[in-house]
Amino acid sequence: MSQSLPTKVFNTEKSDYAFPEIILGQEVGLFDTINKFYPELWKLYKTQKNQDWDENEFDYSSCNVQFKTCDKHTYDMMIKTLAWQWEADSVAARSIAGVLAPVCTSSEAWSGWVEITKNEIVHAATYSEIVRNSFDSPDDILNEILAVQESLSRLRVVSEVFNNAFETSYDYARGARPNDQETYNAIYMFIVGLLCMERIQFMASFAVTFGIVDGTGLFQPIGKAVQKIAQDEFEIHVQYGKEVLRAMFKTERGRTAFEQSQQTILDLINEVTSSEVDWTEYAFSEGRELTGVTCEMMKDWVYFSATDVAKFFGLQDKVDFPLVEENPLRYMESWLNMSKVQASNQEEDTAQYKVGVMKRDDQDEVFEVDF
Ligand SMILES: [Fe+2]
Ligand SMILES: [Fe+2]
Repeated sequence: MSQSLPTKVFNTEKSDYAFPEIILGQEVGLFDTINKFYPELWKLYKTQKNQDWDENEFDYSSCNVQFKTCDKHTYDMMIKTLAWQWEADSVAARSIAGVLAPVCTSSEAWSGWVEITKNEIVHAATYSEIVRNSFDSPDDILNEILAVQESLSRLRVVSEVFNNAFETSYDYARGARPNDQETYNAIYMFIVGLLCMERIQFMASFAVTFGIVDGTGLFQPIGKAVQKIAQDEFEIHVQYGKEVLRAMFKTERGRTAFEQSQQTILDLINEVTSSEVDWTEYAFSEGRELTGVTCEMMKDWVYFSATDVAKFFGLQDKVDFPLVEENPLRYMESWLNMSKVQASNQEEDTAQYKVGVMKRDDQDEVFEVDF
């Protein structure tokens, strides 16, 4: 007599080892590295694992005196920027594995998301350690940070998407929701929301940190630590999100999710971008400024990042912000390995998502899409 186990724990009936869906496929059984169905995800997982680092690699003590002696505008801009980064990475450190645990059904994809979640813990801990080491009474700074309303409202748009996915995921786990397209779409939007947060919002925030460090020469250890974080985000997390979405798009459910969610994705990109622009204007208000960087340049950087996301989904003709194709902040090249990532993205672009091609309505032939 065959023994079966609770399916959500170990699915003895599993028959899709050769083609496990990333989310909401058949419940998982053996952890499988034999059928490598998502080699790109596995590669990114290994890269992330191999470049593990520690929040205490940097000695932040020199920042203590610098926070005391720098001018008030620099202090404020630094604190407000750290506030958002700390909050957003606290969200990331909790939500990625948390939301995806009940629904992820690929060994490769799960490994990557867990590893990225671990990395988000390093990021969140880094901000916490920066504050702990840079101030005489870190508790006061913690409260000061939580009081920055503008940085909390900057998190609102993606928080709603994350919260919806969280509830959907656990309703599904408890059997209160079927494994249907609606459930799939909510998780799909979580992955889109995370991409918007990492590619648009974090990049906007890092540009301010690096602008302060370059412009004032202060806070070098913070700059170095945030550079590690920025490289993780830009070179791994963003690429991982895009790769997952490309793989999902090769499936019928993934394509349906994209088609049904196009307007929601567009609204999300527009809203995230406009909230970043509002934030940028706020950051540059009340007399705050950055040496060598204007508010306009910083806004163009937001548009530049948002353009990348819009183009990824083939939605660049529909967004309500100006497309910026040239990097307006040259200094970001030296903080991130931008050209390296762009080169590898371009190779993929030729075989990309091809959403732009797929949704062309000027021809009604069915395209041979070769991913
Ligand atoms: Fe992060
Ligand atoms: Fe991230």
